[in-house]
Amino acid sequence: MVSVATPSSFPSPPVGPHILYPRLDWNRDAIVLGIESTAHTFGVGIASTRPPYILASVKDTYVPKTGGIHPREAAEHHIRVAAEVLRRALEVAGVSMNSVDAVAVALGPGLGPALRVGATIARGLAVYYSKPLVPVNHAVAHIEIGRLLTGLSSPVVLYVSGGNTMVAALAKKRYRVFGETLDIALGNLLDTFARDAGLAPPYVVEGLHVVDRCALKAREPAEMPYTVKGMDVSYSGLLTAALRAWRRGGGAAVCLGLRESAYGAAVEVAERALVHLRRREVLLTGGVAASPVLKEKMRMMASLHGAAAGWPPPHFAGDNGAMIAWVGLLNYLAGITVDPGEAAVEAGRGGDSLALRVLGPPLYEGAEGILYPVDWFGVPALAKHRIAKRYRHPLLDARLRVERTITEAKAVAAALRAGVPAPAIYFVDPLEAVIVMEWLRGAEKLADIIEREPGCAISYVEKLGAHVARLHGAGVAHGDLTTSNVLVHQGEVFLIDFGLASLHASLRDRAVDLHLFLRSLEAEHPENVEPALEAFLRGYSSILGRGEAGRLLNLVHEIRLMGRYREERRTAWGQG
Ligand code: FE2
Repeated sequence: MVSVATPSSFPSPPVGPHILYPRLDWNRDAIVLGIESTAHTFGVGIASTRPPYILASVKDTYVPKTGGIHPREAAEHHIRVAAEVLRRALEVAGVSMNSVDAVAVALGPGLGPALRVGATIARGLAVYYSKPLVPVNHAVAHIEIGRLLTGLSSPVVLYVSGGNTMVAALAKKRYRVFGETLDIALGNLLDTFARDAGLAPPYVVEGLHVVDRCALKAREPAEMPYTVKGMDVSYSGLLTAALRAWRRGGGAAVCLGLRESAYGAAVEVAERALVHLRRREVLLTGGVAASPVLKEKMRMMASLHGAAAGWPPPHFAGDNGAMIAWVGLLNYLAGITVDPGEAAVEAGRGGDSLALRVLGPPLYEGAEGILYPVDWFGVPALAKHRIAKRYRHPLLDARLRVERTITEAKAVAAALRAGVPAPAIYFVDPLEAVIVMEWLRGAEKLADIIEREPGCAISYVEKLGAHVARLHGAGVAHGDLTTSNVLVHQGEVFLIDFGLASLHASLRDRAVDLHLFLRSLEAEHPENVEPALEAFLRGYSSILGRGEAGRLLNLVHEIRLMGRYREERRTAWGQG
């Protein structure tokens, strides 16, 4: 779900001395780009020291097909949409990356895999364009964008979203949390109830949650638990009771009871903080702040105490990149930056990432990635890590590494199913671009065997031909079939490095496999090309038949005639 906002239409109050950083130099011209990816939203915003301060905010939100937010799916969504969201944000703001002064990123709190996408992209952009990197706290960003867009100066803040429920305020020059949920967040309560009760998605339409809509049909609320402890709330008992009542046929009255207890408790803790801190302003923000019902309750509470209530427009109440850009700008002007070369993505790691115990130095550093020995639950294994390539644009680089890691895992699985030997895969982390696989200790490259004892290599090439035919028969082409990507281990021939495989291979993709294999033979073992080709075709025909092998060879011939570096040598196979 894409949302684009240009808040130039909102009345932005003049920005004076900042309450956190009173000495900011507003006479400086500065533009900061901010990236948000802590949960289901990938957003890019651009903020400036000149009105209207927010130049662009573009975001794309992952909507789970079923159930709640899945961190890994959210992260995959973010990678998919990142380039387009970034492009549109720059376009809307009318600036280029070169005119941006710094790149800001939300480093938490949030979901590990989702956070890492933003952190990786921000660091990549900062390195690629030589810009400082600015870390931003997501919760502070919600509050600051709220202050900017509402003009409230030092409010008590009720921040309610799918993952957060807290009451915060500035006290003694720091934002402090005065109350929070003791268990689940308000947004999570509403979504989980809706899902488990079977209310039909979409869950939110124009700010109105499906629970709000269901509640409109009730006359009286069902009696529901209501738990406020000091300035904290608790929602898990409410969820259990509401679901139980719903299953007993309680209907819309349950929605109304749930809504009243949930919103009532949230507004009450905000009220307690307002009175406790003797403030005159309340700010409602976060994704749930889009609810007109909750806004009305906040307005009523504030008026009881002669306080002002405000909330940013829905685009800016939910997660967005503009809030990260805005706080990034404040931090940048205050000199809070980190050297991107040193900023570890670890800053945004959740606790779910895999800690591999590395057993030694890398075994191999190839074009594809680094291979190093690791301990996999007591079994020595190999981890293949596709590392970032600084010569590629960071967005493209991130996408390629993820795609190739996924392709490799799928292709190896297909190969094994088809009976083609390949190192077994133990674990895949596409976002880290890591595959942990079986370690064929003592395996030799086919290239080395051909070099050493070409006669003996011929039988392996015949086996290879049969394996490639099995792979092709399963619809998969290897995509990088060189003599270095074929291993011989205990007499068996293994295929490795499937990162460029095609899983729905055309006849042409299959012919390219043979073409690449021949080219690597010609380059490194020219005297062995013909016997090797004959052996390969023998093996290939034994699985798919002579006709199929012939068709493949004809196509290889065509590919070679079109090739830029045409093979001069006429060979027997050349006539097909
Ligand atoms: Fe948030």
